[in-house]
Amino acid sequence: MAQRETWTSRVGFIFAAVGSAVGLGNIWSFPFQTASNGGAAFLVVYLLAVFLIGFPTMLIEFVIGRRSKQNAISAFGELGYGNWTFAGALGVASAFITLSFYSVVGGWVISYIVGSLTGGYLGDPGTFFGAVSSGTVAVGAHAVFMLVTVGIVAFGVADGIERATKFMIPAIIVLLVGLAAWAATLSGAGAGYAYYLSPDFGVLAANFGDIVPSAMGQAFFTLSLGFGVMIAYASYMGRDDSLPADSAIIVVINTIVALLAGFAVFPILAATSGVGNASGGAGTAFIALAGAFGQLPVGWLIGLVFFVVLLFAALSSSISLLEAPTSYVVDTYGTSRATVAVGVGAVAFVLGIIPAYGYVGLFNDLVFDVLLPLAVLFISLFVGWVADAESVDELVQGTRLSSGATTLWLWWVRIVVPIAVLVTLYLGVTGFYSGLVSGAYF
Ligand code: PHE
Repeated sequence: MAQRETWTSRVGFIFAAVGSAVGLGNIWSFPFQTASNGGAAFLVVYLLAVFLIGFPTMLIEFVIGRRSKQNAISAFGELGYGNWTFAGALGVASAFITLSFYSVVGGWVISYIVGSLTGGYLGDPGTFFGAVSSGTVAVGAHAVFMLVTVGIVAFGVADGIERATKFMIPAIIVLLVGLAAWAATLSGAGAGYAYYLSPDFGVLAANFGDIVPSAMGQAFFTLSLGFGVMIAYASYMGRDDSLPADSAIIVVINTIVALLAGFAVFPILAATSGVGNASGGAGTAFIALAGAFGQLPVGWLIGLVFFVVLLFAALSSSISLLEAPTSYVVDTYGTSRATVAVGVGAVAFVLGIIPAYGYVGLFNDLVFDVLLPLAVLFISLFVGWVADAESVDELVQGTRLSSGATTLWLWWVRIVVPIAVLVTLYLGVTGFYSGLVSGAYF
């Protein structure tokens, strides 16, 4: 069998992992979750969740991946714990399901890029969203988005994924900084910053049960955790650099991009329709923003820049979602990567036809509320209690971590992460169940 691929360098790995992390989660979900959960109060909890729970959890996946040099499914057997394979399989299955609806939303973004050029959404954003978000237009745009994703993954780890993200991540940051700077000049921007940045702890206390699971789910999703993606990406590391350092860089850049998106979105909303109208489901973000662009001078151009940023972010993440199952098949059967990427992408496309007919919310909540916390729970228990000795040994490679620091990490992974995840899972599952029985999704 051909030799397994690796990233060309440490920087190449970091770009790819940042590309996976920076996605629709940062630019689409984050500002709107913040808007609908009380603004700055949510932001505080979210930042705590990212740094206190997300960061140590990312190290769990990195340790498994680099130690085993295998995809997320085979990794467990490779480490000598074949009966934990289900944990990896659950993650990869979740990645696959996520890819199917992520690509549908990626398709919406393509339609909005076209709409920016034609002015299609400027007059009546609600009607435009209705026309492109479900039905044949949505399926067609979903097909285009999936094709591009498959094309990049087919080229391989270094020539496809690494190269694409090295272009897209800088572009995202430069364009977002430009958007945020422009948004700062709008009259009324101040009200947006106030809502975004000055926390009202009364709101937090009153909505604790909603805010905590949303913030935790958002933290895992935005860092691409639980789906075996970071396991697969770490398995392509050629050398033993410091995992905590890499992880810290990735978490910080991902957070900066999310915050930047907020600095663009909040003033724009405050200057037009108001931040209060931006709460709600998947489509509200598109409708609210498109409506805002419609009220601004050269709104089509601002919209174009915004949706191009969103497209790059979505693509650099969707390739990682496709890579998780692809790496499993390539590692296991030795089939050519291009063939596997096309095959997996085709099946994910077919599954995505369901969300493309109006069920994005159902898929999204299934992933956020149930699959994601469940997968993180299993891998944290695995690393904390089962493969603890080899995990700690792998963590310290290439670092100067003190034994105190590694012990802290281990106990954190053993106790704090599982408890935090269990609470999230409980609230998520009950929320999802009540959505199902109340018919909210259908
Ligand atoms: N992190 C990506 C985002 O924020 C989504 C993602 C989740 C990608 C899990 C890969 C794995 O949009």
